[in-house]
Amino acid sequence: MTRPPATPLAVSVRDATEADMAEIQSIYTFYVTRTAASFEEEPPSVAEMTRRLAATRERGMPYLVAEEKGAVLGYCYAGPWRERSAYRYTVEDSIYVAPYVVRRGIGRILLTALIDRCTRLGYRQMIAVIGDSANQGSIGLHRSLGFRQEGVLRGVGLKFGRWVDVVIMHRVLSGDDRPLPDGATAPPLPAHEDSAPLLPTHEDQRR
Ligand SMILES: CC(C)(COP(=O)(O)OP(=O)(O)OC[C@H]1O[C@@H](n2cnc3c(N)ncnc32)[C@H](O)[C@@H]1OP(=O)(O)O)[C@@H](O)C(=O)NCCC(=O)NCCS
Repeated sequence: MTRPPATPLAVSVRDATEADMAEIQSIYTFYVTRTAASFEEEPPSVAEMTRRLAATRERGMPYLVAEEKGAVLGYCYAGPWRERSAYRYTVEDSIYVAPYVVRRGIGRILLTALIDRCTRLGYRQMIAVIGDSANQGSIGLHRSLGFRQEGVLRGVGLKFGRWVDVVIMHRVLSGDDRPLPDGATAPPLPAHEDSAPLLPTHEDQRR
C-alpha cells in the first residue's frame, strides 16, 4: 500500500533560546544514536548543547528553530567552515528535523531562512558536510536549495562498525553586493560556472 503524501507543516522560524535546548538535544540524540548523519557517537548533554548555542551567538552566527504550537520540530545553525582566519566568510550549516515530521517541508523552511540570514550578514559561501552518502534526505534538501555536490570522501568515519562517507556540498550566497560581516571589503567571488542558479533571498523577494 502506498502512503498518501504528507501534508506540509506550517511552522514558524525564530532564533533559538536556552529554553529550546532540551527539545533540540532530544532531536539530536535520535540522529547521533541511530544514524551516521552526525559523526558524534555519544549524544551531548543539554548543558553541552546550551554551551554550543552560546558559542554560535558569540560568533554572531544564526541558530534557528522551527516551532509549531509551542513545540520545537527542527533546528539549524551556521558555524565556521574551518577555524583558520582566511575561511572567515564561509560558513557550514547544520540542520536536524524531528524524525516523526521529516519530509513535510520543515527542512526547506529552516535552511532557506538560514541561507537568507547568512546572506544578509554578508557571508559569501555555505558548505554542507553530510554524514553518509546514503543520507538522501540531507543530500536532496541541499540540492533542492541550490547546493552542488563537490565531492565524496570515502569511508572517513567509522560508526556502528562500518566506514562512513562524507558528502561535501557547496552553495554561493548571493552576497557580493553586501558588506562583509566585519565591514571589510573584498573583491567579487570568482565565477562558479557550474553552480546552480542562486535563489533569491527572502529580502530580495520583498523588494
Ligand atoms: C535532512 C533533513 C533536515 C531534511 O528535512 P525535511 O524537513 O525532511 O525536508 P523537507 O521536507 O523540507 O524536504 C525538502 C526537499 O528536500 C528533498 N528531500 C527531503 N527528504 C528527502 C529524501 N528522503 N529523499 C530525497 N529527497 C529528499 C526533496 O527535494 C524535498 O522536497 P519535496 O518533498 O518537495 O520533494 C531531515 O531529513 C533530517 O533531519 N535528517 C537527519 C539529519 C541530517 O541528515 N541532517 C543533515 C546533516 S548535514
